[in-house]
Amino acid sequence: MAGLRTLEVAPSAARLTGSLRDIGYDFMTAIADLADNSIAAGATRINVFTQFVPHDSYVLISDDGAGMSERELVEALRFGTRRDYDKNELGRFGLGLKTGSFSQCRRLTVVTRTAPTRARFQVMTLDLNRIAQTDTWDITVDETSPAIERAKDLLRESPGTVVVWEDLDRVLPERYAETGWGRRRLSSLASRTADHLSMVFHRFLASEVAGRNQVVICVDDTKLEPWDPFAPGERERTVLPEQVFEVENDGGSSEVRFRGVVLPARDRFSSLEQFERLSGPQKWNRQQGLYIYRADRLVQHGGWSGLRGIDEHTKLARAALDFDTDLDEAFQINVAKMHVELPPVVRQMLERPVHELCVLADDAYRRSANAPGTPEGMTKAARASDTALRDVGIALKAALLEDRSLEDFRSALDLMRNRHPNLAKQLGL
Ligand SMILES: Nc1ncnc2c1ncn2[C@@H]1O[C@H](COP(=O)(O)OP(=O)(O)OP(=O)(O)O)[C@@H](O)[C@H]1O
Ligand SMILES: [Mg+2]
Repeated sequence: MAGLRTLEVAPSAARLTGSLRDIGYDFMTAIADLADNSIAAGATRINVFTQFVPHDSYVLISDDGAGMSERELVEALRFGTRRDYDKNELGRFGLGLKTGSFSQCRRLTVVTRTAPTRARFQVMTLDLNRIAQTDTWDITVDETSPAIERAKDLLRESPGTVVVWEDLDRVLPERYAETGWGRRRLSSLASRTADHLSMVFHRFLASEVAGRNQVVICVDDTKLEPWDPFAPGERERTVLPEQVFEVENDGGSSEVRFRGVVLPARDRFSSLEQFERLSGPQKWNRQQGLYIYRADRLVQHGGWSGLRGIDEHTKLARAALDFDTDLDEAFQINVAKMHVELPPVVRQMLERPVHELCVLADDAYRRSANAPGTPEGMTKAARASDTALRDVGIALKAALLEDRSLEDFRSALDLMRNRHPNLAKQLGL
């Protein structure tokens, strides 16, 4: 208001950068946040390298995206980058590059090149040790180290960006920085990162994102295969019809899409190997539930967001829930892009479809050969015909669920069970 005396109170760089280290990232999610930046910059190739060097280990994340000019790089290194975002751009807060990196290391350098023909690099560094000493937000220019030189080499041929993490105090605390334990830890983090990126970016890796080329990601030279929680190659899965909900936001409304899938039980999978692979990083039970995608990038993988509990009987139930970035506020996406809250209206709308999905998943689980209660000593032919009848049963249930309330669905099943008890039993109703 006019006339009021104001005083500018700039935050203490030393204090704030220290506290921003702990806003909920781990190694894998920090790398995923950097991969978001690469994808937003149009990259089609992202490489993650971890290098163990006693006391000088480092991590590089390189891409072949558009790169940054000097001015853009300075802005990129500002906590709270000033810029606008298009709809469904993966960035939102202007923080990820800094907060993700400093959650793992003390020294962040970005090496970037925009010119297609001239190998001219911009190199800028944010160093927590320096910031702690000077208590300023200064960045340094043209630092050098073996890791930074390797980053330049990666951009020798064409434009792109390399993020360099050095002084990995959170990854390799000093007393482990030269031990076998340290080496194993870095290599185990790399392999968990590979699993995490295969999952989080599976649609990008499989060219399933509209208007986007395929993205290839390698971790320590191993090319990642997409890990799709819905097992698209499995013939025996049941895909329920997609449901679309309109959710209001500031400017109008936006769609939230829900699609439930019942995965095949272990004995109906194409192979044991595929069954194990589909189990996912946290294994079958904890991987059941909602897979929430923000602009095609996974931000939650499994769990029912409080709609119901994890249950062995519904472990085959998984559902994709998709929203666009114009619902970011409604979903309360966090800086690390690994947590959302279901808006109350979405929670309400999901109750029924989630319940229906779980009824079907429970059924698929119970009729599997491994579930308790399957008759022993059935011949192969008898088992095949039993299975076929139960398939008819599950298709019937899916159809019944499609346009009826749950009560109608239950009473239709009761009617069948009363009138044709044997048939209902054979159909698994
Ligand atoms: N690999 C990259 N290639 C090109 N530009 C990049 C790259 N990484 C970061 N940038 C630029 O730096 C900016 C800041 O990145 P940062 O991750 O800190 O924030 P953001 O992506 O804008 O938002 P969020 O905090 O949600 O990630 C980006 O908006 C982008 O303009
Ligand atoms: Mg970002």
